[in-house]
Amino acid sequence: MSYLDTTHDVYKEAALTPDVGLCCTTNPIWELPGLSIPKIMQEMNYGCGSTVHARDLSNNPKMLYVGVGGGMELLQFAYFNRQKGGVVGVDVVDEMLEASRKNFIEAEATNDWFKSEFVDLKKGDALNLPVADNTIDVAAQNCLFNIFKADDLKRAIEEMYRVLKPHGRLVMSDPTCEQPMNDTLRNDERLRALCLSGSLPIGRIRKSIN
Ligand SMILES: C[S@@+](CC[C@H](N)C(=O)[O-])C[C@H]1O[C@@H](n2cnc3c(N)ncnc32)[C@H](O)[C@@H]1O
Repeated sequence: MSYLDTTHDVYKEAALTPDVGLCCTTNPIWELPGLSIPKIMQEMNYGCGSTVHARDLSNNPKMLYVGVGGGMELLQFAYFNRQKGGVVGVDVVDEMLEASRKNFIEAEATNDWFKSEFVDLKKGDALNLPVADNTIDVAAQNCLFNIFKADDLKRAIEEMYRVLKPHGRLVMSDPTCEQPMNDTLRNDERLRALCLSGSLPIGRIRKSIN
């Protein structure tokens, strides 16, 4: 069994039973006019910071979001895009895809501008994205890539660059860690899955994306 299986199990559980504050920190969330984020999406906010930046989102970019969680950031992306299939969401955990699908239906009820069809949910792995080359303007992930060990992180970033169009944007939000961490923590699969012990110094992350 690999740490990727442990990660799968942690997020299967977190899809079946929402776990407030499971991962990273609880951040204030974007409040935008006419955007109402269902409570369940907020409870399933398993990310840190935000990948949603208005300056990236003009001219209806085609967006990819890897590691869907409860769907909150996809709803926020759809707010700027508002087109059928404008935001592609990829997740490897069936139960998480199912939970987010339900959450989008709930979001339709409280956001008159939103339709579930704006989000195209796909089963797939960050390490082998089910997305064609050169088709995406903005590719984002929040609190998934820090879980990956070095070779997998390299692969995940290569996949993002493969699907991005020339001059497309890669947006990442992950916890970082400047202090050395011992191998016991680094190799604890559950702490890694919870985004606690896989984090890297910001300089290492910069190197890995260049
Ligand atoms: C820490 S959660 C972050 C969820 C979401 N980005 C957020 O900010 O709330 C990690 C997400 O990545 C998904 N995931 C785990 N391993 C994955 C993989 N190898 N490929 C794609 N998604 C994966 C999990 O099911 C979960 O939805």
